[in-house]
Amino acid sequence: MAQKIVAGNWKMNLSLSEGVKLVNGIESKIDSTDVRIIVFTPSLFAHPISQLNKKDTEVGVQNFNQNESGAFTGEVSLNQVKSIGVSIGLIGHSERRLYYNEDNSILKSKVDAAINNDFEFIFCCGEPLEIREGNKEFEYVKNQLEESLFHLTELQIKGSTIAYEPVWAIGTGKTATTEQAEEMHKAIRSWIIERYSEEIAETVSILYGGSCNPKNAEELFACPNVDGGLIGGASLNADDFCAIINSF
Ligand code: PGA
Repeated sequence: MAQKIVAGNWKMNLSLSEGVKLVNGIESKIDSTDVRIIVFTPSLFAHPISQLNKKDTEVGVQNFNQNESGAFTGEVSLNQVKSIGVSIGLIGHSERRLYYNEDNSILKSKVDAAINNDFEFIFCCGEPLEIREGNKEFEYVKNQLEESLFHLTELQIKGSTIAYEPVWAIGTGKTATTEQAEEMHKAIRSWIIERYSEEIAETVSILYGGSCNPKNAEELFACPNVDGGLIGGASLNADDFCAIINSF
């Protein structure tokens, strides 16, 4: 059974004090839950936020460099992230792909770096609008997974997490319909079965991301192949984020 996860992606938002207030708010509002809760903070804040007195909320980073160390000004290595006690990060968010030219081969090296460092990740995939309009979304997402993730062994991919985030739904207020989300999530699971096995596919959590909010979360999370969400805008407000978590 795949783990249920609701993760917040703060992107480049909030000051440290606002982030602290947000996490304290989440901690005080959340009902006891089986859902795994993670906030992906800017790297700069990952340490202070992880040090807060909290029981439910884990902290992750939004990005890391695939190299071990060296002359990469402005970048953060996995060793550095791990040295502050953080052990999960996002890989391949569409904004990294689009604005920082992270292509499938760079993302494959980030996946490998994570595996080699025993570092957990959420691998993001999803098609831009023109791909969906050309009815090529399944081909496109399958290719993203094949080129960056499906080289892993059964043991390495077991229990991992994929986030399907259609690019046209991110920050636009346009959510995928439950049918669109479920059919892509079901397809992703079927590709894992094809490449690995049914047993492995059942251990992989597949999250939906893209304008997920307290109004649409319940319906999305009720889909059989949707194991949770990666939340941008609505994760910046403790009430909304907790309402989404409680939608399970
Ligand atoms: P959004 O962002 O919820 O603001 O659409 C989701 C994401 O980019 O992870």
